[in-house]
Order: sequence, then C-alpha cells, then structure tokens
Amino acid sequence: MAKKVLVLLGSPRRKGNSAMLAEQITKGAKSAKAKVETIYLHGRTIAPCKACFACQKKGSKECSIKDDMQDIYLKLIETDAWVIASPVYWFNMSAQTKIFMDRCFALPAYQKEPFIGKRIAIAMTYGGEDPFDSDCVNALRTFQDAFGYIESQIVGMVYGSAMDAGQIRSNKKVMEEAFDFGKKLASG
Ligand SMILES: Cc1cc2nc3c(=O)[nH]c(=O)nc-3n(C[C@H](O)[C@H](O)[C@H](O)COP(=O)(O)O)c2cc1C
Repeated sequence: MAKKVLVLLGSPRRKGNSAMLAEQITKGAKSAKAKVETIYLHGRTIAPCKACFACQKKGSKECSIKDDMQDIYLKLIETDAWVIASPVYWFNMSAQTKIFMDRCFALPAYQKEPFIGKRIAIAMTYGGEDPFDSDCVNALRTFQDAFGYIESQIVGMVYGSAMDAGQIRSNKKVMEEAFDFGKKLASG
C-alpha cells in the first residue's frame, strides 16, 4: 500500500531553504509512490499549548484549543510518516515548529499510542557554517530526544548551511541526500 506522508513546514519562508529540502524529500517519496500532503505551519492559526492538561484527562477526546491544529491532528493520525522542516532560529528550531511540537502533546487524545512506529524525517537549514557553529545540533538533539521518548522512529535527518532563501539549491550533495531520504522514508 502507498505510504502517506505529511510534510510540516516550520519556516515563514514558503520557498526558503528548509522548504526546499522538504520538497526534495517529497519528490523522493513520490518517486516511491507515496501520497504526500504539505502543511505550511506559519500560514495556520496555531496557538501555543496553554498547559490546561484537558487532553491528558482520562477519556479526553481532544485538545481544548479549537484552532487549525484540530485538522492537523487528524492528518497526523492518518499518515505513516511525517517530515518536519525547520530553519535554525536562535540556536534551535523555529518558534512555529516548537509550537507545533508542544501541541502534539494532545495527540494521544485522538488515538491511542499515536506516535509508536511513526516514521519521522527532519530537514533543517542554518546560516552558520556547520551544525555546531549554527547550533543546529541543539534542534536535532531535541527531535531525537522527543521522538525517542514517544517511540517514533527517526528515519533520518538532512541538514545544510544556507543563509539566503533558495541558497540551499546549490548544495547538490544535500539536495540529493534529501531526495534519497524521501525514497527511504516512503519505502520502509
Ligand atoms: C530570527 C532568525 C534567527 C536565526 N538564527 C540562526 C542561528 O541561531 N543560527 C544559524 O546558523 N542561523 C540562524 N538564522 C539563519 C537561518 O537559519 C537560515 O537563513 C536558514 O537557512 C533559513 O531557513 P529558511 O529559508 O527555511 O527559513 C536565523 C535567521 C532568522 C531569521
């Protein structure tokens, strides 16, 4: 059966570097017959988690915040793999991405054990020279810890240096890596 992939773009730049890496992953996944849907988080109304813990109560069926995450929760549940693409902002993931991650706290209210076995791909770009100089490593480590904790499988992480929007395109190695990675994500 064709795998379903959900791409979550965490940059305000629709055609930015992280979105380009995500697009390459999408192309690779589609070449392996996956069905891919992309969500531009910045364009959605997604409030930060307010720690009401309503979603954690026994028998809870949903997050108490009625915004665009409601629709996204359903898409997260029905897909086999997620691609999370983010720029490095202030030595970590973007705020849009972090708000999305926090709101995923409520996902178990929609389905029992929603994270187990979910295949995850991370795509990140940064203006610094390398993952350490930019502190992309902080974000990568956060994703590793978070998805390890909830027992999802990080299939891989692709990242590269690029400051101006679109600059990542000239990094052929990373672009190819992202494409191959998409194929791998869809064929597992
Ligand atoms: C608010 C802001 C904070 C940033 N912080 C960092 C940083 O801490 N480290 C870094 O290497 N680059 C930083 N950058 C540069 C971006 O990570 C870089 O331009 C990236 O490729 C943007 O990806 P995008 O085109 O997908 O938005 C920052 C850019 C902005 C706008």
